Amino acid sequence: MKQGSSSFKPFLFGFITALIIGWWIFPNIIFSKQEQPFNFSHKAHLNQVGDCSACHYFREDGSFSGIPDVESCASCHYDTITGIPDEKIFVKEYVKKNKEVPWKIYQKQPDNVYFSHIAHQRFPCTTCHPDVGKSNHMPIYRENKLTGYSSYTMKMYKCERCHAQNHVSNACYVCHK
Ligand code: HEC
Ligand code: HEC
Ligand code: HEC
Ligand code: HEC
Ligand code: HEC
Repeated sequence: MKQGSSSFKPFLFGFITALIIGWWIFPNIIFSKQEQPFNFSHKAHLNQVGDCSACHYFREDGSFSGIPDVESCASCHYDTITGIPDEKIFVKEYVKKNKEVPWKIYQKQPDNVYFSHIAHQRFPCTTCHPDVGKSNHMPIYRENKLTGYSSYTMKMYKCERCHAQNHVSNACYVCHK
């Protein structure tokens, strides 16, 4: 009885150390945090334009528009219209220079993975993405230093789990072209 409780302490120490390394130290070593070029508030813009499809929509050929280009923002931001510092950066560095914004794509998939939004349009955006519409700040972007992938990239098992539930083929060639 006594022996049991005294060997429990080293175990507990090792266990807690492993948790700290696994959950805190290791992720901080392999992921580098990166800022977006400037803050874009979804919440503020949804008040202006109504809904997601004003900016993210399907073209007639079924392709997905993705993130809007600078030209479509410039209908409002042809010049600074607010006193917000992030808008100043946007207008000065991108609108005036006619340069596209190098947004970091949270969900970016490796080049060998094929994904199309139109095949998934029956699912709400938040099935796969964080609920950005309700917030003024995008999440911190974290890049895996070893692979160069974003920490938000949907993992293969998640794609396959939903495909299995919906009786969609999980043959390798469906997603890897
Ligand atoms: C006024 C235009 C506009 C509207 C309206 C808008 N977005 Fe966006 N969206 C953007 C821009 C610009 C970005 C890039 C900003 C960034 O990543 O910091 C973006 C990025 C995103 C991303 C990140 C994708 C990734 O993986 O990097 C998601 C998800 C998204 N929007 C979903 C939505 C949803 C859902 C709605 C409706 C609730 C919506 N957006 C409405 C302009 C818009
Ligand atoms: C079934 C999962 C899924 C759903 C549902 C989904 N997305 Fe995505 N989204 C992705 C993946 C995966 C990527 C990355 C694609 C790539 O890198 O090829 C992505 C990328 C994006 C991007 C980045 C730009 C681009 O074109 O790659 C935006 C913006 C975006 N999604 C917005 C939306 C919006 C808005 C909705 C709802 C109308 C939505 N997504 C629904 C999985 C999803
Ligand atoms: C319909 C007009 C309109 C369009 C289109 C529009 N904006 Fe804005 N934008 C505004 C207004 C109004 C504000 C001030 C919002 C507030 O009250 O905080 C704003 C604020 C901003 C800011 C300051 C930070 C923030 O988000 O509040 C940035 C940066 C910005 N816009 C970038 C963009 C980009 C990039 C696009 C294109 C994807 C875009 N805007 C499209 C009207 C617009
Ligand atoms: C929430 C459920 C869900 C998730 C998550 C999901 N899928 Fe799908 N996917 C489906 C369904 C359902 C279909 C069949 C759509 C149809 O046939 O109309 C499909 C179809 C596809 C197709 C075939 C499309 C075509 O044009 O033939 C590809 C490729 C695909 N998904 C890739 C992916 C990848 C890659 C991921 C992960 C990044 C993913 N899916 C995540 C539900 C999902
Ligand atoms: C439903 C879509 C889907 C199917 C089916 C699928 N994969 Fe994947 N696979 C992905 C996605 C998304 C990634 C990237 C995310 C990750 O690494 O988990 C990936 C990543 C990989 C990688 C790592 C590639 C890299 O660059 O890191 C390998 C290897 C791989 N898949 C092999 C396979 C094999 C073998 C099969 C068939 C048995 C298969 N996959 C079936 C979606 C799929």
